[in-house]
Amino acid sequence: MSSTDATPLSEDMLIIHGGTPLEGEVTVRGAKNLVSKAMVAALLGTSPSVLRSVPAIRDVEVVTGLLRVHGVDVELDGDTLYMDPTSVESAGVEEINVHAGTSRIPILLCGPLLHRLGRAFIPDLGGCNIGGRPIDFHLDALRQFGAVVEKDASGTHLSAPNGLHGIRYELEFPSVGATEQVLLTAVMAKGTTELRNAAIEPEIIDLICVLQKMGAIIKVHTNRVIEIVGVDELKGYRHRALPDRIEAASWASAALATEGSVFVRGAQQADMMTFLNVFRSIGGAYEVDDDPVEGGIRFWHPGTPLKPVALETDVHPGLMTDWQQPIVVALTQADGLSIMHETVYENRFGYTSELRRMGANIELYSDCLGGTPCRWGRRNFLHSAVIAGPSKLHAADLQIPDLRAGFSHLIAAMAAEGTSRVYGVDRYITRGYENFEEKLLGLGAKIERPVTK
Ligand code: EPZ
Repeated sequence: MSSTDATPLSEDMLIIHGGTPLEGEVTVRGAKNLVSKAMVAALLGTSPSVLRSVPAIRDVEVVTGLLRVHGVDVELDGDTLYMDPTSVESAGVEEINVHAGTSRIPILLCGPLLHRLGRAFIPDLGGCNIGGRPIDFHLDALRQFGAVVEKDASGTHLSAPNGLHGIRYELEFPSVGATEQVLLTAVMAKGTTELRNAAIEPEIIDLICVLQKMGAIIKVHTNRVIEIVGVDELKGYRHRALPDRIEAASWASAALATEGSVFVRGAQQADMMTFLNVFRSIGGAYEVDDDPVEGGIRFWHPGTPLKPVALETDVHPGLMTDWQQPIVVALTQADGLSIMHETVYENRFGYTSELRRMGANIELYSDCLGGTPCRWGRRNFLHSAVIAGPSKLHAADLQIPDLRAGFSHLIAAMAAEGTSRVYGVDRYITRGYENFEEKLLGLGAKIERPVTK
């Protein structure tokens, strides 16, 4: 990958000549939000692991770096990742801190490192700026397992002087990361762990499959209860990552917003059911090809006016918060008033100010404009959006604020009349979208990089 955070702003830009429908096909590989966690799980094994369908994205590079500083031998061959953790060792604060601020994943190394080495160091976290994103659930659960947590100016140090022991724990909110934290720690803790109010996203179920292949005993009960029976040893795994349903939905929304037609090879109906219902309610069309190798879903704009809808994001099986931004861009083209109530993050509508500059009619509210009053309404966050469409979008210079918002800026620029300049593509989009420029060009998008002197 050519891009880094150090790319000068003026070069980190894509020129987009809008107004062309996206037509063709793209392939999605393994989900970013599973691949990075499965890489962490490899640390727990006493033998090498093999992960297939790994996308070439920056988050994979970051976790590769984190594993390597801990003595894991990581090799990538095509889209297959080989990870050999047989010589795991403690890393120095300075080498770990090279990865500070780049991703949320370091927090998930706590349990595996405590099991393997008896101690762990976690740098300041990064990831998208979409709210406070605290780690209190993670640290609280780790303390209950028996970890001692000490913070200083360099980051967070953890140790487990008396080992880690199974717990009964209830999450305040079904957090994806905190559920993964408990899973990755409980699999080798002494005794049984019962986790209540767990997240059950498909990426978590896929992580459970990975851990089960390694030798873990994990029971997923009804009502968000997960029971984990700790074992003494785990071995390596061989696994094909489930496809990235966020990327799939991003291309689907791009097809709708640009009045195009995109076949997303690899997209799976079961993981995208909620999105597919929304897509159809808005007036989009899709067709599922469930061939196990060549299959996917074709998404297109049927040529009839798009319809407004009232939606709210939620934990699985609700509408994913990461689908919200591309859907909102498509809703700017719907005929009437749509509502989007964001219930997962308190601050995930920052990107709409750029859409407004392009002519979108979007107003934000702190009320819960949805069926479910959520914790953000009581605390006065602007977390509901009313979108009045259809709006003729016009080109603008756009600054990307985070990964998913960034892709929605690209969609808006492709749907708009005229030439837009989108800044921050290397910094943000490459974190989670593999070869996005090649894919856009393959779909007929008129894009170019600025000429550098
Ligand atoms: C994961 O983040 C994903 N990231 C996010 O995707 C995704 O938006 C999110 O899950 C929800 O689906 C990765 O998998 C790497 P959470 P995570 O813990 O685990 C609050 C993308 O673009 N919370 O489920 O960090 C938190 O503030 C990214 O791919 C606490 O209060 O999300 C939020 O409001 C963006 N305390 C809510 O829970 C905690 O200790 C859900 O967060 C942890 C979370």
